[in-house]
Amino acid sequence: MAHGGSTNGPDLQEQVALLKEQLHEAQKQAALGQLVGTTTHEFNNILMTIINWAKQGLRHGDKPTREKAFNKILSAGNRAARITKTVLGLARNRSGGKEPTDLVTLVQDSLMLLEREMNKYRVAVDKHFQEVPEVMIDGNQIQQVLLNLLINARQAMPRGGRLIVKISYDRAADTVDLMVRDNGCGIPPEKLPRIFDAYFSTKSGPDASGKGGTGLGLSMCREIIEAHNGRIRVDSTVGKGTAFTLKLPPAVKAAPKPPPLGAPLMPHPGFASQMPTATPAQ
Ligand SMILES: Nc1ncnc2c1ncn2[C@@H]1O[C@H](COP(=O)(O)OP(=O)(O)OP(=O)(O)O)[C@@H](O)[C@H]1O
Ligand SMILES: [Mg+2]
Repeated sequence: MAHGGSTNGPDLQEQVALLKEQLHEAQKQAALGQLVGTTTHEFNNILMTIINWAKQGLRHGDKPTREKAFNKILSAGNRAARITKTVLGLARNRSGGKEPTDLVTLVQDSLMLLEREMNKYRVAVDKHFQEVPEVMIDGNQIQQVLLNLLINARQAMPRGGRLIVKISYDRAADTVDLMVRDNGCGIPPEKLPRIFDAYFSTKSGPDASGKGGTGLGLSMCREIIEAHNGRIRVDSTVGKGTAFTLKLPPAVKAAPKPPPLGAPLMPHPGFASQMPTATPAQ
């Protein structure tokens, strides 16, 4: 125990650690709170689809119409189940630890949660997903990072725009890269160095969908990415848009030595061989 007026004793360190833990918990709750609004709308939407197709099936007795109605009801039901699973995963904190994870699925789930919101704000979403190795991540935390980047991007395009989400493998750095690019307002060079500071925000408060304005989003993102031995990069031009890139270590390291010149490139050992080579944009 440190005594005699020292302010750097283990007590203080313990307190800081405890407060940080509490802050993380509060941030998670805030992220969940924001999602409640989004998912409630989404569920309403799904229910309307189910009710309308059920009516259609009852009204028309012919087999093709009924079959179509059942198929629509089934896919709406499946969509609702996927949403519940994703939100519950966030709420339960999953394993709370890092494990080999398929980033493509995680990104698809996050985009699904925000699909309606993106439509509402006329944001078109382009997906470019390459085949990549699994990454060593806490899925919950990375999803929180991604949701903040996606919401920031959407808020930077108040009159709509284009969002590009790209997943690729950087062979030279042996990292899996996730890029979120918008063609929104951009960040002025004098503000750029401050965006990762806690409480730095240019937003006047939560917007109509209840999101944004605490200025904790990017500071949390950076902390989480650093705890994953990853990096977060930003590239922005006023009036043109902003791109954030996460660089994450794969679960299985690439072979340490490059193959001799002329030899065929071996696939990364962490590639899931059964994965499709590309996911078509919707
Ligand atoms: N994609 C983007 N385009 C333009 N500016 C951005 C973008 N992402 C972040 N910023 C700027 O960085 C600031 C900090 O972002 P951060 O996510 O930390 O906080 P916030 O979005 O304001 O609030 P919250 O804590 O609710 O996320 C934003 O207020 C905004 O000025
Ligand atoms: Mg934010």
